Amino acid sequence: MGVWIDTDMGFDDIAAIMVVTNAELDIDGVSLVFGNAPLPRVRTNAAGAAKAFGWKFSIHTGRDMPVLGKLETAQAILGESGIPTTGRRLPPAPILPDSDAFVALCRWLELEGPHRILALGPLTNIAALVLARPDLSARITELVWMGGGVTSGNHTASAEFNALADPEALAIVIAHKLPLRMVDLDLCRKVLAKPEDADPVRAAGGANAELIADMFAGYIRIGTSRGRPSMAIYDPSAAVAFVAPQVVSFRPARIDVELQGQHTRGRTVVETRTTHATFNAQFAADIDADMARVIILAALVNEARK
Ligand code: BDR
Ligand code: CA
Repeated sequence: MGVWIDTDMGFDDIAAIMVVTNAELDIDGVSLVFGNAPLPRVRTNAAGAAKAFGWKFSIHTGRDMPVLGKLETAQAILGESGIPTTGRRLPPAPILPDSDAFVALCRWLELEGPHRILALGPLTNIAALVLARPDLSARITELVWMGGGVTSGNHTASAEFNALADPEALAIVIAHKLPLRMVDLDLCRKVLAKPEDADPVRAAGGANAELIADMFAGYIRIGTSRGRPSMAIYDPSAAVAFVAPQVVSFRPARIDVELQGQHTRGRTVVETRTTHATFNAQFAADIDADMARVIILAALVNEARK
């Protein structure tokens, strides 16, 4: 049995997929969700990445709006495409064939498990599944999700983007006791990329070396253009937790998400004290950041060599 990836297809999502393929896990399917950009643009990115990197797995189109509320994207930071670059862009590609993510996920969950999902965007597709087919969502074995932030946010002062873009979806996933393993902003901020990290990717010399290096450099520039020396590697850190769980320490936790707060909507609240809560999830408390960087950079370099 392979794994499933749910994604809003920014550069860090693409890099996370490379971490999974480099670990030689089979990807049974990918579902797309709005997030870094509106869904039609996410589909375009997925088609371009599939063409550039020769992806053979099936890609399915999921939700274009959150469970409640208005559409949030990260385009103000990432640009119209959701994938900043210092040069080359993903190639134009024919539009992906129509395939409904909900239907595809249901079919996959009907197969014999284990059913391991890596979620890299707002949890809207997973929440839709939980609401309509709780019998099938109960078959999910593991849901590693990049999202949330314990001490701070990135999209707002309080909230991490994937949580803020659909907090109700996160609340639904938690309420239905899915086996959530949350890899939050604070953890990802320990795994940093500096501008020179794009150099070995560029030097790999394969057909896609310049493309991956330019997109990686564009991603790192999100941090450096704001006066920081580096950029946190978000989704690939969750992919490391997925493919190499020994690199990450998970702790049982009580995770809740703020749905009401005037200034704190989308904020995740994580309680790890046994005396204060009934646990409902696992929380990635620490990571061997050096090892995580080795795994992530090796995946990018190997892809660049192809
Ligand atoms: C998350 O938001 C998206 O922009 C990234 O792809 C990542 O999944 C980080 O907050
Ligand atoms: Ca993402």
